[in-house]
Amino acid sequence: MTKLAIASDHGGFALKEKIMQRFADVDWLDLGTGSEESVDYPQFGKAMGEAITNEDADTGILICGSGIGISIAANRFPAVRAALCVNAEMAALSRQHNDANVISLGARIIDEETAYECVEAFLNTEFEGGRHERRVEQLS
Ligand code: RB5
Repeated sequence: MTKLAIASDHGGFALKEKIMQRFADVDWLDLGTGSEESVDYPQFGKAMGEAITNEDADTGILICGSGIGISIAANRFPAVRAALCVNAEMAALSRQHNDANVISLGARIIDEETAYECVEAFLNTEFEGGRHERRVEQLS
């Protein structure tokens, strides 16, 4: 089964826990953080970047307040294609067109149900390949 990593800062901690409960059948690799105590999002984006690079996980979910900082941090790793999504359509497109391997969510931007819809779409949508293949190749 696909190994799925998840990481957040304090702003995303509550939503991280809810997502793990909601998708309880997933074999989660929880990269932290472990509480709502203030932490620095680059450390958790970095942890995701390392997990994807080392193939400890092939897919990931990132959450911070906006979803922005933590995705910027993860995208500094060449193996990561992290997509910041605010709805299920973006999550599906990130898979279909960009072969995103990480989705980033903003806990202060979207509600819980929308976050679940994004995760559902991200996990259940395939990369379309074809013309998108060469474009994704150009990202590396
Ligand atoms: C933390 O306050 C906040 O800055 C962080 O969660 C995130 O939104 C950064 O991009």
